[in-house]
Amino acid sequence: MNSPPRAGRSTSDKPLLRVLAGERLNPPPFWLMRQAGRYLPEYRSLRAKAGTFLDLCLTPDLATEVTLQPIRRYGMDAAILFSDILVVPLGLGQAVSFEEGRGPVLEPLRDASELSRLRLDGMREKLAPVYRTVRQVVAALPAPVTMIGFAGAPWTVASYMVEGGSSREFAIARRWANEDTDGFQRLIDLLVEATVEHLSAQVEAGAEALQIFDSWANAWAAEKTSAALRRWCLEPCRRIIAKLEARHPHIPVILFPRAVGPHLSLFAKESGAAALSLDDSVPLAWARATLQPMLPLQGNLPPRILVEGGPALAMQTRLILSELGQGPFVFNLGHGILPETPLEHVAELAALIREGVPA
Ligand code: CP3
Repeated sequence: MNSPPRAGRSTSDKPLLRVLAGERLNPPPFWLMRQAGRYLPEYRSLRAKAGTFLDLCLTPDLATEVTLQPIRRYGMDAAILFSDILVVPLGLGQAVSFEEGRGPVLEPLRDASELSRLRLDGMREKLAPVYRTVRQVVAALPAPVTMIGFAGAPWTVASYMVEGGSSREFAIARRWANEDTDGFQRLIDLLVEATVEHLSAQVEAGAEALQIFDSWANAWAAEKTSAALRRWCLEPCRRIIAKLEARHPHIPVILFPRAVGPHLSLFAKESGAAALSLDDSVPLAWARATLQPMLPLQGNLPPRILVEGGPALAMQTRLILSELGQGPFVFNLGHGILPETPLEHVAELAALIREGVPA
């Protein structure tokens, strides 16, 4: 169970860490999911020089530079490590590449007999450049800015490993989970261990907060009992958070179980996360009344509204601020920033957030 928000107990004066410890700040701190990326011209030009996307992730000087780009432009309260959730399968020995216009491509893992292809013991060494990037970013960050490390949740990462890339319906991964439940559980258990190692290594390198992305938790959210969502999403994340808490007791974990609707209250009560990140479908009044008394919240402007800008952007930003800004709150998007987002809309959003909660 979560303890209620522990107002004012952060030992840090960084705004993001104060809020994650349960304090309300006005204006709230903010950062944006996928804040380093293709909407930034300086990212596109560096990306063009770097070779592949994975080369960029695994070259510390370049990954450090990309991590810092949005902070320089907009002064976010947090830097999120420039990396990807699929470096974990890469570190475990699965072939992973990113193809232009196609997204990630993995050599698919189709049943439990193939688990022997994966090895946890070489992962930290293979991913050493990622941890070096964390160290370099921490050394370069302005004092009030928090360094966020991250990983994908076991189910979300497993879905890419099994499907061999992005998927709409998760038919192959769901079939494995339903038909060979024990075998699929072994894959999830391996990913729990790998995720704890990967996040611990980021903390040891200087990450001060962590986010776990369960972007495809929605794959189990429509079942008429919560059993599968609990087994494949909630329980693995709860175990990761408990193991991290034992190793690094002062590092808050933000959990993003995307598009699970009212099941979010299960994650609030049982995951042990310090905060929940809300996707853009979550109603503000419900989140404020049901979730925020239990823990700090983060979110949830629709990325599409940030592309559109104008009066809708101002109105929706102020609505979010006036509902969720009454409690411990971190302003963010409801999902990653879209590549077609105009730069001036991000500047406008930053200015709107800095106006604080409307009177
Ligand atoms: O937030 C940040 O700025 C930090 C970096 C970050 C990236 N990916 C960089 C990236 C983070 C936190 C992620 C997480 C991630 N990666 C998730 C979970 C969050 C979410 O969006 O749901 C998922 C599902 C992935 C897997 C992934 N990576 C896909 C499906 C794709 C292809 C789609 C796309 O947007 O291109 C990627 C590639 C990727 N990861 C890019 C970036 C900046 C684009 C690569 C490029 O420059 O071509």
